[in-house]
This record gives sequence, structure tokens and C-alpha cells, in this order.
Amino acid sequence: MHHFDYRDGRLHCEEVDLAKLADQVGTPCYVYSTATLRRHARVIAAAFEGQDCLIAFSVKANSNLAVLATLAEEGCGADVVSGGELQRALRAGIPASKIVFSGVGKTAREMELGLREGIHQFNVESAAELRLLSYVANGLGLQAPIAIRVNPDVAAGGHPNISTGKKGDKFGVPWAEAEDLYAEAATLPGIKVVGVDVHIGSQIGDLVPMRAAFEKVVGLAQRLRAAGHDIARIDVGGGLGIPYKEGDEPPPPSAYAAMIAEVSAGLGVQVILEPGRVIAGNAGVMLTTALYEKAAPDRSFLIVDAGMNDLMRPALYGAHHDIRPLKQAAPDAPEKTYDVVGPICESTDKFAAGRDMPVVAPGDRLAFMSAGAYGAVLSSAYNTRPLVPEVLVNGDRFDIVRRRPDLEEMLQLEQVPDWLKRTD
Ligand code: LLP
Repeated sequence: MHHFDYRDGRLHCEEVDLAKLADQVGTPCYVYSTATLRRHARVIAAAFEGQDCLIAFSVKANSNLAVLATLAEEGCGADVVSGGELQRALRAGIPASKIVFSGVGKTAREMELGLREGIHQFNVESAAELRLLSYVANGLGLQAPIAIRVNPDVAAGGHPNISTGKKGDKFGVPWAEAEDLYAEAATLPGIKVVGVDVHIGSQIGDLVPMRAAFEKVVGLAQRLRAAGHDIARIDVGGGLGIPYKEGDEPPPPSAYAAMIAEVSAGLGVQVILEPGRVIAGNAGVMLTTALYEKAAPDRSFLIVDAGMNDLMRPALYGAHHDIRPLKQAAPDAPEKTYDVVGPICESTDKFAAGRDMPVVAPGDRLAFMSAGAYGAVLSSAYNTRPLVPEVLVNGDRFDIVRRRPDLEEMLQLEQVPDWLKRTD
């Protein structure tokens, strides 16, 4: 459920007419709905009510400070994968005691930051990382609370580029090595074992692989307890899918929560969740303006002012985003089949191939739906296009929460060395 609907034939985000917003902010731009973010956070919290649970929003999905501050107000923690994300989460008001630090490549400096801030947990992904964390923590006279991320060798079933829990993926510690690494962890100074961590992939549309992974993890937790480890938490990662198009029916949070309650029943652990997409995905859209139509012998290209640098998902994963006109088409309006493309000089700069849509005229505005997760965070300035701005709607107001940099700001980061400067 989200708060992007037509009212009087015009697409609104909550009470805000998106065409008016686009006039003021310019396109392309991202627009997020506060009510949708809050709603999604509450639906998940309600699904897990009665379970000891930390909802650590996966900051990589949408790291805008205003989005994080909204989720902080809802009581969410954060799952971070860099020192930068950690500092964003703190700055947005998420307490360190609700932050978990994941990722395969933490540096000593990032570890130090997490330790000094007193974060809830480090999710350790290799023996080498565990040893470095021990060294850093011991040097600071601090204890690092850790879970080891295990690779359960379960296929998540989604797109291969976002599957992370199969043997051969770079993520987690191989299943067969996990218990030995826990044994080593127990001997290391500065390390305090607190739990087990797993994450098998993203946009998962089926609870079966998740259940298989979590059952393995619960079994492991029991064996670790029997071996004397204090396993007080199970971090189940993120990965719950969302509907991107009609007919998509991912499992609802209530079914997901019930499955986790069942699998972990009697274990007496805190369950840590790292949802990203399920909170932010349908809480955002990207607005664009149609520039030209170009007829090729076998197709019509609709060229829009957003490019793959602004929304990478179609180019990276062949992902589908519904495209809706901001001015609703009449039910009997003529349709046309388009390849919707951007201005970038790459053939993968294509948002949709052979998409049937109501006829679009140059100047018409369109919304790419379900762009709130892995949208703006993945954007770049490729082709010297300024980073796409972000806007947060709340009821009938909207605020630009990341402005579009101007060209001067972009160029200021660069310098031509003196010896290259022309003197004539
Ligand atoms: N926890 C860990 C350790 C993760 O690696 C991820 C996502 C999450 C949680 C959050 O997963 P979610 O609930 O959002 O599925 N860029 C891709 C998705 C990459 C996911 C990376 N890891 C996309 O646009 O589909």
C-alpha cells in the first residue's frame, strides 16, 4: 500500500499534486511519501508485535537523511555497510544501540567508529575481519558485540545479481567453517559473541527459501549454545520482496513474521530484521519529462529526461518499473508501444522495452513507480548530469531534502594541475 494515487485525474503523492511539484523542482527528481514510509514501518512492527525484535532499516536502500529521520521517529534502527552510512544513521537520530554494521569489507577505521559509538552489533563476514576487529577493539579497550554472517547455501530465487546466500557468493562465512570460527571468536580478546546473522538475497517473492535458511540458522544457534556460546540474537537480514507490477504477490509481512516466530519458537532470542526495499520501495517515485519521440523502422523510442544514471535498476537488473502519466489518461485514450529510453550514451540506458502506454507527447510528465529503494542511492553524475534531487512529501507540504547540485559545485571538486594550464 502506498500514497500515490490519481485525484481528479492528476497523480498525487498524499495531498501534493506531482505535476505542480515537478514544475517547482524540475525533473528528473525523486519524491518520497512520509505517510507510506511510516505505514510500512508500522505494518512490519505490528507483524512482529510480541516478538523481541529490532527493525534495522537497511540504509543502502535509501539513505536520505530525511527518510532516515522519519524512520527514526518510527523507532527503527539501521543496518549500515560503511562508516558513511553509520554517520548518516547517527545524524538522522538513530541511536547507536539500534545500529548493526554489515558488509564484507569493513576497514579498521570503520570498525573504530562503530566501537567508539557503541553500536548494537557487528555482522562479521570472514575470519580475517574477525581478527582485525579483535585487534582494533582490544587496542581501544572495548568489546565488539558480534554475530557471524553465515552462508547457508540456499538459493533465494530472485535475480542472480541480488542473490547472496549460495555457496560461491562472496557473502558470509561458508557453512562448514562457521562453528570453527565461532570457536576462534570465543578465544579472541575484544570480541563478544552475541548472535548469528544471515541474509540470502533481495526481492524474494517466496518464503520457502527464507524458511530453509532460517531453519538451518536456528539449528546452528542451538549447536553453538550447546558449545557454550551466548547466542542471544538472530539477525535474519532483509530481502522481502515488494509488488512492482500488477500480479506480483510477495508474501505479506504478517506471513513473514509468523514464519520467523514459528522457526525461532522457544529459542528466546532477539530477532533482528534488516528490511530495506519493503519499507522504502513503494514509498518513492521518480518523475521525468518526455523530451522526444523518435521513430525507428521497427519501434518508437520515447526519450525522457531521466537516464540510467538517475535510476539504474532497469539497466543493472532488467528491473521493471511501472510508468504512469502524471495526467491520467482517459479510459479510451489511444495506446502506443514504446521503448522508453534516457539521454545517456549507452545502449543499456533503457527503462522499458515494448511497453504499451497511453500516447505520450513531448513535455508530458511521467512517474516511474516503486523507485524509493535502490533508486537515488545508486544514482551517479555520469555524462556530467547533476545528481538527481530528492523531495519528501508530508500531507500537503513538500520539502527538497537533497537539492540538485549546480555545475559549478560539481566542477569545484576537480582541478587542472598548473603544468597543464594554458598560459596563452
Ligand atoms: N541486509 C543485507 C546484508 C543486505 O545485503 C541487504 C541488501 C539488505 C539487508 C536489504 O535487503 P532488502 O530488504 O532491501 O531486500 N540494488 C538491488 C538490491 C541490492 C540488495 C543489496 N543488499 C536492487 O535494486 O534490486
